[in-house]
Amino acid sequence: MIIAIDGPAASGKGTLSRLVAEHFRLAWLDTGSLYRAVGLKMLRNGDDPADREAAEKAAKSLNPNELTNSELKTEVVGLAASKVAAIPEVRQALVGFQRSFAQTPPGGAQGAVLDGRDIGTVVCPDADFKVYVTASPEARAHRRFLELRDKGDTVTEQEVLAMTRERDARDTNRGESPLKTAEDAYLLDTTNLSIDAAFAALKVYISGSSN
Ligand code: CDP
Repeated sequence: MIIAIDGPAASGKGTLSRLVAEHFRLAWLDTGSLYRAVGLKMLRNGDDPADREAAEKAAKSLNPNELTNSELKTEVVGLAASKVAAIPEVRQALVGFQRSFAQTPPGGAQGAVLDGRDIGTVVCPDADFKVYVTASPEARAHRRFLELRDKGDTVTEQEVLAMTRERDARDTNRGESPLKTAEDAYLLDTTNLSIDAAFAALKVYISGSSN
């Protein structure tokens, strides 16, 4: 079973994907971590994240132990990720890993949950279930601000909102695999939903029951 969960930054898709994976005992891949890891590598090397050749090289040399660094979660790395993610060669270098994770999930799991921007449209167009999680930019920026503040980050809510809007615009308008709702996706707007309520709705969509 393959479940594709797409949506813009801080829509709740990461938390929901983790909960869905735990509940249905599936492997989970946060595909944003791949683009973030490439972005972080570029920043560390002093490269411009929009440099196509350097970004392709960084994507091709990515290894799994680079996907767990706590620095990946910062907004600065998120912005760099959205720049490398607009480069077709980077996406091509990363799609194989994502598809083989979906087809042959690690740990003998019977399926996988992948969350990102293009999972239901490009990476796994034949996924059994497709979800598009969204929320207003203000609600998403507020959530991300609280998350970052808890981690000791001093970024302001206004700055987070500006970076969220910049990332949304780049992710939606890029030529290669832009962020968009798959035609057959279940649309979940979490602006006024708690995580518990959103998770309950997803369980009903996937299994017909909220238990
Ligand atoms: O956690 P958040 O929603 O803020 O971002 P993320 O899922 O970690 O993704 C970081 C960036 O990677 C996004 O802004 C996208 O530009 C890019 N990305 C992508 O292009 N395709 C994916 N499947 C996943 C992420």
